[in-house]
Amino acid sequence: MEAELSQEVVENSLAGVLFVSRALYLPSTTSTNDVLKRLASEGAPEGTVALADEQTAGRGRLNRRWVAPAGSSLLFSILFRPSASAQAHSPLAYTMLCSLAVRDAVAETLGVSIGIKWPNDLVHDGRKLGGILTEISTDARGGGYVVVGIGLNVNWDPSTAGFDFPATSIRNAVGHPVARADLLRAIVERIAERYAALRAGRSPVREWESALDTIGREVAVELPGERITGVAVGVDADGALLVQADDGLCRIIAGDVRVRDSAVAP
Ligand code: BTN
Repeated sequence: MEAELSQEVVENSLAGVLFVSRALYLPSTTSTNDVLKRLASEGAPEGTVALADEQTAGRGRLNRRWVAPAGSSLLFSILFRPSASAQAHSPLAYTMLCSLAVRDAVAETLGVSIGIKWPNDLVHDGRKLGGILTEISTDARGGGYVVVGIGLNVNWDPSTAGFDFPATSIRNAVGHPVARADLLRAIVERIAERYAALRAGRSPVREWESALDTIGREVAVELPGERITGVAVGVDADGALLVQADDGLCRIIAGDVRVRDSAVAP
């Protein structure tokens, strides 16, 4: 049985994770990304984590809403303040390292294999389980920072929520409810390890490419005023998706990508 989340539970679950400088629990807030961006602009240190039990204005990529009932999910954001050299990495590098960390945490602590769909979806059995929203900005002193928000459906059944894409949860995938505080720790520990590797100059891009469910599949990419179909053949060094279309190789940096033999939406 999971303990309710609280400031104390969240702090205890992240205690000793070297990268974490401050853990903030919010029973209800607009969006943990918005809270953390405000704190970052006021000088919050790298490694600040903001977690909410409920969001009233949760956001996803492409300005979509992120909806989850109170007490059901992991909804949190992490602040990175990369050094100038680490700022040379594509912002997608942070999406990559966090999605790989979630994948590893779920596999290693719950024994379930989840997939990653380009660029920011976490999927299980062709259904969306979670997503990552990476936002970069600059504070008043000109320091660049990165806020990564992670939303993971944990102990609820989003398949009945009326989303216009198939959705699932960790509970559905594992077969039983999961203690969110334990999963939070497992994820943040792995983010810390992977961020240390990024800071040491090791890009996660090739590992991420091999983890992507999208590669080798027929895809349809919706761009403003244009639709590209072809086979996703890989990603480039920045994480852009390379799609072999009939009329040549296309480099996709944003847009809706649908795997044509699956109904998973962005
Ligand atoms: C997506 O699938 O497009 C990304 C979803 C990201 C949702 C998380 S929940 C915590 C953080 N706060 C937000 O408002 N969004 C992210």
